[in-house]
Amino acid sequence: MRPENFIFLRSLMRQHAGVLLEEGKEYLVLARLGPLARRESWGSVDELISHLRSRPNGELRRQVAEAMVTTETSFFRDVHPFQTLKDVIFPDLIERRAGSRTLRIWSAACAAGQEAYSVAMLLKEHFGDLPGWHVRIVASDVSSAMIERAKLGSYSQLEINRGVPSHLLTRHFERDGLQWRVNEDIRQMVDFRQINLATPFPPLPEMDIIFARNVLIYFDENTRREVLRRLAGNLRKDGYLFVGGAETMIAYSDLFYRLQIDRTSCYRPRR
Ligand SMILES: C[S@@+](CC[C@H](N)C(=O)[O-])C[C@H]1O[C@@H](n2cnc3c(N)ncnc32)[C@H](O)[C@@H]1O
Repeated sequence: MRPENFIFLRSLMRQHAGVLLEEGKEYLVLARLGPLARRESWGSVDELISHLRSRPNGELRRQVAEAMVTTETSFFRDVHPFQTLKDVIFPDLIERRAGSRTLRIWSAACAAGQEAYSVAMLLKEHFGDLPGWHVRIVASDVSSAMIERAKLGSYSQLEINRGVPSHLLTRHFERDGLQWRVNEDIRQMVDFRQINLATPFPPLPEMDIIFARNVLIYFDENTRREVLRRLAGNLRKDGYLFVGGAETMIAYSDLFYRLQIDRTSCYRPRR
């Protein structure tokens, strides 16, 4: 692809979502933007980017930025964090929040919503309705297209097969044509919002649990530190932060300390 188009895209990604597009990743651009270029009837990815450079267009810019980022996710992704939530973290928080009877959970890069709905199903299954409690799950993503999908809560058989056990499928989903839709009581536990982690957050209550899994990898070093600093400020001092299994937090030990619970690592803010 033309070098000036690659440079333009690098700066677009940085501005849009603080996302770092490394030198030499032209192949990634072609793979990610090829389907969008074809769908929008451009002759090539270069043509699409050249057009965007000469005629700034907010909607096309958003589509390009969103197509560049992977939204790969699944229900109960990585299994162990959810096991630890069930066995240790929720029992602990339910005991410690018995006074306020409030629990706040944030799925901070929720993609199509599977993470947030997994937490909602887990709570419902193992802790019932927690009568008298105020339990809210906020789920956000930079991509407004993802947020619309997540709100709908409708998933293909393939997406269901990736992580939903059959007893949960029976209890918490209903058939919707070829799709499966999350039942309304579970959907209502989640508030979906568009939030870009790379820019200052809108006002949010302090959270008991934050999931920022498999998103920090996209940010350059400065942005990642800034995001983690803001997340630390939005997490209660006895709360829990989850990052992706492959994401290391060693460089941020001034912001968070690690808790090893069973087979799960999570983090608490240093205050
Ligand atoms: C690989 S998915 C991870 C989804 C889920 N957290 C998980 O671990 O399965 C990455 C998500 O991060 C979102 N994302 C990328 N940059 C972001 C930003 N600056 N702010 C918020 N979300 C962002 C993408 O839109 C995508 O949905």
